Amino acid sequence: MSKEYTCLGMMSGTSGDGVDASIIQSDGLDKFTILKEKYYQYDENLFREYHDLKKKINSSNDLKKNSPLIKKLENSITIFHAKVVKDITNKFDIDLIGFHGQTIYHNPQEKISLQLGNGNLLSQLTRKKVVYDFRQNDINNGGEGAPLTPIFHKYLIKSKKIELPACMLNIGGISNLTLIHNLNNHEIKSEDVGPGNCLINAWMQNHTNEKFDFNGRISNMGKINEIILEQALETHENNFQKRKNISLDTNDFDISFARGLSLEDGAATLTAFTAKIITSKISLLLREYNNKKIKVLICGGGRKNKSLLKLIEANSNKNLFFFNSDDFGLNGDFIESQAFAYLAIRSILTLPISFPSTTGCNSPCSGGKIIEI
Ligand SMILES: Nc1ncnc2c1ncn2[C@@H]1O[C@H](COP(=O)(O)OP(=O)(O)O)[C@@H](O)[C@H]1O
Ligand SMILES: [Mg+2]
Repeated sequence: MSKEYTCLGMMSGTSGDGVDASIIQSDGLDKFTILKEKYYQYDENLFREYHDLKKKINSSNDLKKNSPLIKKLENSITIFHAKVVKDITNKFDIDLIGFHGQTIYHNPQEKISLQLGNGNLLSQLTRKKVVYDFRQNDINNGGEGAPLTPIFHKYLIKSKKIELPACMLNIGGISNLTLIHNLNNHEIKSEDVGPGNCLINAWMQNHTNEKFDFNGRISNMGKINEIILEQALETHENNFQKRKNISLDTNDFDISFARGLSLEDGAATLTAFTAKIITSKISLLLREYNNKKIKVLICGGGRKNKSLLKLIEANSNKNLFFFNSDDFGLNGDFIESQAFAYLAIRSILTLPISFPSTTGCNSPCSGGKIIEI
């Protein structure tokens, strides 16, 4: 019988608004139980500090220039996570922690993916075994370090016995797609497919006191400016034509083309831009499957943006059937934090977490630095 571990996974995604935490019990394979889940929002200072710094960092040179600020922020983020551990483990005895950290810079061309999160410090503060820095080993093995969740998406699709081929579409700050067409091998197709909430969030944060467009209400009130949208899509296509990367960073995109539009029209146009990029990338990735019915389970906070979902559905090929992951009993808010708990367990078992078909690495590789206690 395989051994099961109780693990806390903590994920702070590219939206940079807080930490999703999931305590799971799993063997890193097919046994998997959720024990507790909770979201911890960053306080206003931490939110500002992170987003202000993230905007300043657009190259590896910027990383060097800002290194004192980065260290300071990493400390604050680690201490925030330690408080999360303390709160959520109050009634649970965990074996280890999967600590993703907050991405401050991801550039696959430069082979850099940096998450703020000091595993040593977290381990000292919590007196727990910690797995962190999940992406570097994949990068050292020729991969892009992202996306890492596909192996967990595969487990979910398998456990829910969803007819294959099937997809998971995670709409976080960035959107990524996983396609599972065979459960018996690791030929999982996965790729970042475009922005997720990042542009809509940035627009809302620049123009209102809100952090996001709740349920897509603001964009729903606006009118898409088709001329600006077409121009922006053309520019995007030209910029991305030569890029062969499978992963993206939020600073690959920006909202400047919407300036001058009203709050509502800007939100509508940015939402349409986001949906168009996602759907054209998905249709490219799934082009071999045009004659098959494919269920696409949507997870991540973006699944609650009704305007975005409506446009994704309207722009997509008719063989795709979209579902909220919650319809299959999968709480779409916590799939990523569950994934990093699952990946932490796989890391200590030296099971692979990334594959040539997911990140472009040379061979399946495990990952995550391990801090023993
Ligand atoms: N009710 C909602 N309506 C619209 N968007 C939402 C809603 N709830 C969450 N979101 C969006 O989802 C984001 C958080 O989703 P999440 O999957 O945690 O992303 P990330 O992985 O980038 O942290 C928020 O920043 C927001 O843009
Ligand atoms: Mg999040």
